[in-house]
Formats: sequence, structure tokens, C-alpha cells
Amino acid sequence: MRILTGIQPSGTPHLGNYFGYFKQNIDLLGEEENLLMIADLHALTTVHNAQELRTFRQELSKDFLACGFDPSRGTLFFQSYVPEHTELSWILSCSTPMGLLERAVSYKDKVQQGLEANVGLFTYPVLQAADILIYDADVVPVGKDQKQHIEIARDIAQKFNHRYGSDLLSAPEPRIVENVAVIPGTDGQKMSKSYGNTIPMFGEEKVIKKAIMGIVTDSTTMEEPKNPENCVVYALHSLLLDESEKNALADRYRAGGLGYGDAKKLFFEAFMDYFGPLRERRSNLKEKDVQDVILQGSARARAIAGATIERVRTAVGLR
Ligand code: ADP
Ligand code: TRP
Repeated sequence: MRILTGIQPSGTPHLGNYFGYFKQNIDLLGEEENLLMIADLHALTTVHNAQELRTFRQELSKDFLACGFDPSRGTLFFQSYVPEHTELSWILSCSTPMGLLERAVSYKDKVQQGLEANVGLFTYPVLQAADILIYDADVVPVGKDQKQHIEIARDIAQKFNHRYGSDLLSAPEPRIVENVAVIPGTDGQKMSKSYGNTIPMFGEEKVIKKAIMGIVTDSTTMEEPKNPENCVVYALHSLLLDESEKNALADRYRAGGLGYGDAKKLFFEAFMDYFGPLRERRSNLKEKDVQDVILQGSARARAIAGATIERVRTAVGLR
């Protein structure tokens, strides 16, 4: 079985990305054939500064290695280093009905958020379908927000197969990661770089501290008992704890006498303890070694993509 997943290098990763993406994809490694793609071409839809894109992409590669990605157990690569993705994307777009993309919610959401309504943003799902179909991926583990994109990829594969041959492209199963809760940001909404409410796990210590000390809380005084279930500080802190530690912390909230300032300091300390070893590993990474991982991963990915694109070229009459 082949598993493919992707993430855009469009910002600085945060705690929500760590628990919603990095950790579970790294935990999956080794069981099956795993391909992990840094979707730099997709990021071009919103990142319009060259230096910024270059930095995000390189930093994201380091983040994966720091979080425990082992290149001997999976393939980490840059989307743009496998140009067959864009060729397949074009070919697929010529069998994709406009209506399919017009129904996509992510385009509308992004434009509503104020992003530029460029054509790339509109055809984004076709490129994502190419990413998936070019590897004959069996499973694509994604969060709920990506479910429609996987369904579109299945529809695109069906349209294409209907026109050119029944078994040319195989449609993947989405493996929706239901058990991962949406991690709240410092303002209590979903943590997201677009909301400016993130805690970056590899950020400077003072940035992390400032974000944690700024988490919204209610006006319960220090002495009063607190309900951990309604508290963002507890929700985030408990991600880092095992069951018994979680219960012990919840008891302290309920007992009263723990002010929010102190609760945040406890969370900050736990955060630095949890991410300390990852931060250390990250600071010891050498640029050259990171680049080698990407170059080798991209070559491995390209070998698979090359076989699919040849099959597709022949089927459509380009061979
Ligand atoms: P952002 O919302 O910060 O722009 P992305 O949309 O680039 O993040 O998400 C990258 C990955 O991280 C996706 O797989 C997404 O499901 C996951 N993710 C992002 N934010 C959260 C969150 N707050 N809780 C859980 N998972 C998240
Ligand atoms: N659209 C995905 C996101 O924003 C990233 C992505 C690009 C992806 N290509 C993919 C995810 C292929 C899974 C499979 O999170």
C-alpha cells in the first residue's frame, strides 16, 4: 500500500500543525510505503515573494527532520522537483468539467478571506489530484478540511478513465483523520496562521512565551475553582501530557488556587520540555544534509511519477 500526503510551505508551523499533521504522519512511517510532499507549487497560489517561499520550503524540510522524519522509512520531497505533476495536472484539466471546480469550497473560502482570486487558486484541486494520481496512492491521510479535495481527485480520475481507459488512474481512499481534534489557537478559534493566533513550536523562546502568556482566559480569580474543560490553556497543555498527568492538572484547576498566569507558566515550561529535544535536533541539522534528503527523496518520487506519466502520455495520444 502506498500512502501520500502533502503540506504547503506557506508559513511557520505551529502546535495545530504538529498535532494535526506532523506527528501523525511521522508516526505512520515504516508501516507502508510513505510519500510526504512539500507542496511548493500549491504554495505559489498564495506566497508571492520568492525569498519567502524559498525560506518556508527549506525550514519546513528541517521541521520534518526535527520532528523525527526518518528518510530511510519514507520519502520526503519537493513537488516542484517532480515536474511530471504539472504535466499530469494540465492533461487532467482537459477532462475536468468546470462545474466540478466551481463546487469546491476552499476557493470560495480563500477568496472570502481576502486572498487574490488567481487562476491557480481556482485550479488548485486539479494539481492536487495530479499529486495523488501520479503515485497511484491508495490512501491519502488528511484532515476534514481536505476531504473535498480528495473526492474531487476521485471524480477527476473517473472522468479521465471513462474517456481514455478504465484502469489508467486509480482513485484513492481518503483516510480522514477524525480522532485529531481541532487544536485551538491563543484566541480560542482554530489555530491557524491566517488568524495570527499560533504558537510556533520552533519559534524563538520569547515569541513562544509571549503567545502563551497572551492566551485568552475568562475572569475567574486566582482562588476560584476553574473548569478545565472550558479553558484554552488546559486544552493546549493537556496535549503534551499522558492520562495521569492530565488528570492531575485538571484536579489542580478544579481545586482553585491556581491563577491563569501560573497555569500559563506551567504550560510554557511543559512546552519547552516537550519540544526541547526536537528544537535541539533541529538546531544541529546541516543545510547540506537537509538538501540531500530532499534531492534523494525527489529522485525516488520522480521514478514512480515517470512511469505513470508515460502511461498517460500514451493513452492521450502524446506518444
Ligand atoms: P493553517 O490553518 O495554519 O494555514 P494548513 O492549512 O497549512 O494550516 O494546515 C496544514 C496541516 O495541518 C493540515 O493537514 C491541517 O489539517 C493541519 N492543521 C492546521 N491547523 C490545525 C489545527 N488547528 N488543528 C488540527 N490540525 C490542524
Ligand atoms: N491542499 C493540502 C493542504 O493545504 C496540501 C496538499 C497538496 C496535499 N497536495 C496534496 C495533501 C496531495 C494531500 C495530498 O493541506
